[in-house]
Amino acid sequence: MSRAYNFSAGPAALPEPVLEQARDELLEWKGERASVMEVSHRGKAFVAMAEESEADLRTLLAVPDDYAVLFLQGGATQQFAQIPLNIATPGQAADYLVTGAWGQKAVSEAKPYVNARIAASTEEGRFTDVPDADSWSVDPAAAYLHYTPNETIHGVEFHALPDSGDVPLVGDFSSTILSRPVDVSKFGIIYAGAQKNIGPSGLVLMVIRRELMERSGQARAKILNFAAQAKEGSMLNTPPTLSWYLAGLVFKWLREQGGLEAMAKRNQAKADLLYAAIDNSGGFYRNPVAPRARSWMNVPFTLKDAALDSAFLKESEAAGLLALKGHRAVGGMRASIYNAMPIEGVKALVDFMADFARRNG
Ligand SMILES: Cc1ncc(COP(=O)(O)O)c(C=O)c1O
Repeated sequence: MSRAYNFSAGPAALPEPVLEQARDELLEWKGERASVMEVSHRGKAFVAMAEESEADLRTLLAVPDDYAVLFLQGGATQQFAQIPLNIATPGQAADYLVTGAWGQKAVSEAKPYVNARIAASTEEGRFTDVPDADSWSVDPAAAYLHYTPNETIHGVEFHALPDSGDVPLVGDFSSTILSRPVDVSKFGIIYAGAQKNIGPSGLVLMVIRRELMERSGQARAKILNFAAQAKEGSMLNTPPTLSWYLAGLVFKWLREQGGLEAMAKRNQAKADLLYAAIDNSGGFYRNPVAPRARSWMNVPFTLKDAALDSAFLKESEAAGLLALKGHRAVGGMRASIYNAMPIEGVKALVDFMADFARRNG
């Protein structure tokens, strides 16, 4: 076995006990004499698993009863379009706080359907901070206010909930869902692609205030209709059964870890360790993000000389530290330290970084 510490931004590392359980029951699942991928999604065993996964998720996130939980497809990207289609009328104003590349994409994908307004953007500062609330221009008649609680590429995270007043708040939680507790009642919609903190790709988790599903929205096929999905238990068509099953195992693992309070403590400790290593490197490593907005999940950093990048990547990979190459929009390195990354992995990374700096400083 040569499994390494995997710092990939997504698809990302999964908890090892989850992979082990999946391996153990891959050929025969729950006495079905077939694998979970080979049985009907309408059969008793799968439906029971789906219900249990929703119940576990509701416990983890303390989801109030007036919210539905949906297990959708199409990635978070599809939601950039599907959300306006469901909760805004054609051309209605919809507001966006843009703090990085994913927020920008959410705006551009919504434009065919709504008057997507940028209520605030930190682009001028190269996406290294969150905007102060007094700088936002939110339209009280907007269908919703959309933001990205954690920008995966720029490593910028909101550490406080934006106050959207009476406008429903919509959060793209793709890279921070389940990393800490969140007050669901403050949101209209929370959604997240699965492939970082939930499970494998192919699944999108959505928590939506039921009342929003009563909005008429816009002309759309039934498969894109949240209310229709909710009515059918997210099984209007064949769901990604393997991804759903693995997400269910991850929810159980999170509960065994002590839930989201415990994960928040661990995640903060991991992030503190890594940022301290960067900040105390005498300028060898740098993270450009304002301390108040530094992500607990995705930590981009540059080396003092980009000519050292390829050696850093080659040597880190040889040391069992995978996928540290930064996104091309930001350059340098990026360490994604989601729930499944143990503190030992971050310790191994900071030790490697200190050693590399000593040898190349
Ligand atoms: C914050 C955020 N939103 C959206 C996406 C797009 O997700 P998907 O590939 O599931 O469409 C990503 C992917 O990395 C992301 O990090």
